[in-house]
This record gives sequence, C-alpha cells and structure tokens, in this order.
Amino acid sequence: MNIDWNTLRFSYTETDYIVRCAFHGHRQKDGTLEGQWEAPYATRDKILPMHVCATALQYGQEAFEGLKVFRGVDGQIRVFRWQANAERMARSAEGLYMAVVPMDVWEKAVRIAIESNLNFLPPYETGATLYLRPLLIGTTPKLGVGPGWDFEFVIIPSPIGPYYPKLNANRLPCQTFIVNRHVDRAAAYGTGQFKVGGNYAASFRGTETAHQQGYDCLFLDSRYHRYIDECSAANFIGIRDNEYLTPRSSAILPSITNDSLMTLAKEQGLKVTRRHIRLSEIATMQEAAACGTACVISPIDKVIDPDKHVTYTLPQAPGPVLMGLRTALQDIQYGRTEDKHHWCTIIN
Ligand code: PLP
Ligand code: COI
Repeated sequence: MNIDWNTLRFSYTETDYIVRCAFHGHRQKDGTLEGQWEAPYATRDKILPMHVCATALQYGQEAFEGLKVFRGVDGQIRVFRWQANAERMARSAEGLYMAVVPMDVWEKAVRIAIESNLNFLPPYETGATLYLRPLLIGTTPKLGVGPGWDFEFVIIPSPIGPYYPKLNANRLPCQTFIVNRHVDRAAAYGTGQFKVGGNYAASFRGTETAHQQGYDCLFLDSRYHRYIDECSAANFIGIRDNEYLTPRSSAILPSITNDSLMTLAKEQGLKVTRRHIRLSEIATMQEAAACGTACVISPIDKVIDPDKHVTYTLPQAPGPVLMGLRTALQDIQYGRTEDKHHWCTIIN
C-alpha cells in the first residue's frame, strides 16, 4: 500500500476491510417488522452477492451515511459525531420501511471499520481523512411493489481528500453554483430529508449539467422554485451582517456539519436563523458557503440564475466569518481545542 495522501480527492480508495452485518426478519400482518441483527464482522471481500430481485435493486430501498475519522494533532483517532449519523440513518431507515441499526451494532461496526483499516487513516496535516460510508440495503427478493424484511448494513471506509479541490478563476478555493429550475432534487413532502440513494440519482440531471458548465448545482424548493433548498450534496449557509442564515425546508437533508456550525456560530455571538430564504436574498449577503461532511465549508463566490439572467456575486469569498467557523470546527475535529460538546469519540 502506497498512498499519496496529499493528492487524494473525494473518490474511492479500497482499504483492507469493509464491515458487514445482516438483519433477517419478517413482517407481521399489520406491516410491523420483526427480526434480528447479526454481529458485525470485518471482511476483505468487497462484493455483496445478492438476489437480482433484492428490494434495494428493484425499488431503491437503501440509505447511506457519511462520517469522518481524524488523526489529531496529539496522534489520537477521533470520530466526529457518529451517534448523530446513526440517528439520521435510523430516520432514513424508518422513512423507507427498513430495519433500524441499533446504536450498539452501529458503534461496534464503526470501531471495527477503523481498527481493521488503521493503515488507511491519513496522517495529521495532510488534509486527508478516513471517510466512513455506512450503507443499508434491502436484500429481500421481491417483485411485488413494497418493502422487504431482510437488510444488510455495511461500512465502507475510504481515505479521502478535498471534495472541491479546484480553484476558481481568481485562484481562490471558491465554488460557483448554478440554479436549475428544470430539475428538482426532492419534492416538498418527498424523501429529501432522508439520506437515500434515490435522491442522488434524482439530482444527477442537475449536477451533471452544472458540472459540464464548470459549476455545481443549487437546488431550489420544488413547489415555487423561489427558495434555496440545497447546494448539490451540501447545505447552504449565508452570512448577512451578524446573522448566520440557513434554509428551513422539508426537502433538505438535516446536515450534521450545519448543526455543529450553528452551535459554534451562536458561541461566536452570531444570530442564527433557519427560515425560508429567497434566492434573491443572496444579493444582500456578504458571504455564502456549502457545508457538509465531505466539503466541510466550501465558500461560494457566485450563484448564477440563467433563467433570470442574474449572477449574484458574494463580496467576500472566502469570507472571514465562515472561514473562522471552519477553523473552529476543524480545531475540534483535529483535537487542537477543547471538545466542549463531546462531538468526538476517541478510538484507542
Ligand atoms: N445535504 C445533502 C444532500 C448531503 O448529501 C449532505 C451530505 O451528507 C449534506 C447535506 C451535509 O450533511 P452532513 O453535514 O451531515 O454531512
Ligand atoms: C457527505 O458530505 O459526507 C456526503 O456524503 C455527501 C455526498 C458526497 C454524497
């Protein structure tokens, strides 16, 4: 194994082991799911044999997560907010009628995923981290439309580098987003608040069109195409004077990064507001960014609205407020400051 940590991107690098764990169950007449989880175990085999009619393959009954493991300044290994990811996957599982992975199974699987792949944990100060991709799939063979009762929980580790490695035309690490009113990522009462594969497949028409133009896609609310929903696979944050603004919407993924940043922003004396945010309000903001586990906080320099022939240019990109919040978050993740909120779990 010879990995150049500094050139890693957000892409898959195979590690020694993945972790697997199956749920075998049945449904009661009233639809209630009953069954049992096996103990999670590490395996070198990355191929999952499954029936061609598995509900994950036929009807998209699957959910996933993303969390990061950091090698700290003190050499310790820290996992960031794994319980929050477990809780979110539980909500996704319930949303798609899947078995919930119990906390003890989740924790054991996370520990095995890290401990069996220590060679793939990037050293401190390389900018790379070990990403864990938990995945929950329906494995019951079915042709009739409806949820299955057997599931497989997998954790796929991969060392990763920056999500947005490219610099903009001014050689700054900023992203330009383009609005697309012809593609919705998720419906108002759809599955947008869950982290399920179908949302990402649904977004490809928007994101791939944007990428071909050198941008990333900003999704608006699907009802009015007036309010900001999400930045591709990340939440949106704007800074206006002393206020941290982030969208409230039934169709967006509740980001754990955004939740953490809201806490830090309040501590820094910012007013934190979650509400519907009109696209046109970007004109009144000094800073904006996309936030998520993969992209941390990635500053936005421009938002292009081709239908309205408008380009919103953020005066500060990158800006001091959001970059200050990024430092505060990363200081906790890398153990450079006190972890007051107990967000990190140290793996010995
Ligand atoms: N929104 C979407 C659609 C995402 O895929 C992600 C990534 O997980 C986020 C937001 C950010 O969420 P988090 O900060 O929990 O990674
Ligand atoms: C993340 O931010 O961790 C994600 O999983 C988003 C995306 C890259 C799928």
